[in-house]
Amino acid sequence: MKILITGGAGYIGSHVLNLLGMAGHDIVVVDNLSTGRKEAMLYGKHVEENLENTEVIDKLFADEKFEACIHFAGSIVVPESVSDPIKYYKNNTENSLNVVGLCVKHGVKNFIFSSTAAVYGDLEGGVCTEESATVPINPYGTSKLMTELMLRDTSAAHDFNFVALRYFNVAGANVDLKVGQCTPNATHLIKIASECASGKRDKMAIFGTDYGTPDGTCIRDYIHVDDLAQAHVDSLTYLAGGGKSEIMNCGYGHGFSVREVIDTVKKVTGVDFPAEEIERRPGDAEKLISVADKIRKTIGWTPKYDDLELIVKTAYEWEKKLQ
Ligand code: UD1
Repeated sequence: MKILITGGAGYIGSHVLNLLGMAGHDIVVVDNLSTGRKEAMLYGKHVEENLENTEVIDKLFADEKFEACIHFAGSIVVPESVSDPIKYYKNNTENSLNVVGLCVKHGVKNFIFSSTAAVYGDLEGGVCTEESATVPINPYGTSKLMTELMLRDTSAAHDFNFVALRYFNVAGANVDLKVGQCTPNATHLIKIASECASGKRDKMAIFGTDYGTPDGTCIRDYIHVDDLAQAHVDSLTYLAGGGKSEIMNCGYGHGFSVREVIDTVKKVTGVDFPAEEIERRPGDAEKLISVADKIRKTIGWTPKYDDLELIVKTAYEWEKKLQ
C-alpha cells in the first residue's frame, strides 16, 4: 500500500516503519525531527515538515495519493502537558485535525491513530475496558481524546474508517535491535532506569510512594514495542479488508509497580543504582491496566513478548548500543 506515516522518526513510529518497510509497502514519512531521529527511519521517503503547514501537506497528499495514514506525530510528555497545555492542543489536537481533514479531502479512507491509556484518567480500580469512562487528568490525555472524538464523527459522516489504539505503557526496543528509543530527554520509566544501568545517569527518582497500591508506587501495564508495532500492522490489514472503525486498548492486561520495574532492571542488568523517593509527579494516575480482549478478537492481535524481563533486556541492550 501507499502509506503516509506521520512521526515515523519517533520511538513507536520507527518500529512500525521498520515492519511495514520490511513487508514492502511504499511509505512516506512526515516528521519535523523535533524529537525524532533521522537514523531511526530505516525505510521510506522522508519529508521534514510540520503538520501545521497545511499547504505543503495538502500538496503532498495530492502528489502521493495515499491509501492509508498512520498518525503518530505529537507530543507525549505528561508533566510537560500540565505546564504547557497549548503545545499539546496544537501538536496533538490541532495537527490531527489538519491530517484528518486532508485525508477526507483526498479520499484516504484508512486511518490509524496513536491514542493512549491516558484518556481514562484516574479510573476507580485502574482496570480499563474500552467502555470505561474517559475522564483524562492531564492535557496530554485530553488532547488525544479530542482527536478520538473527531475521528468518530468524521467516520460517521464520510467514507473514512479508523482504528484508534489506546496504548498502555510502551517500552523496550526491537528484539533484533534494529530500532529502539532514541528520543533525547525521554521521560519513560524503563528508558530512564536503563540509562542508569548503562551508566548514562547516576541516579533516578521514584515519583510518589504514597499511592493506594501494595508498595505505594504507581502501577502500569508495560507492553513491548514490537508487539505494539505489530498491532498497527494488524490494524492496517483489518481496515484494508473493509473493517469498520474501532477504538481498542493495546496492553497485556496486567501490571507492575514502579518499584517492581526498577528492581527488574537491576536484576536483569546486574547493575545497582540509586532510586530516590520523591514527591508525586503532576498528572500521574495511580494504576492503569488494560482489558485488551477486543483487539485480540477484532484484528487477531497475538502478542509475543509479554515478559517484563525481556522488555527490560531489550531496552538495556539498545541503550548500550546507543552509546
Ligand atoms: C504516560 C502516558 C502514556 C505516554 C507516556 C509517554 C498516562 C496514563 N500515560 O505514561 O500514554 O505514552 O506517558 O511519556 O499518562 N516514573 C518514576 N520515575 C521516572 C519516570 C517515571 O517514578 O523517572 C513513574 C511515573 O511517575 C509513573 C510510571 O513511572 O508512575 C510510568 O511513567 P512513564 O514511563 O513516564 O509513563 P506514564 O506517565 O505512565
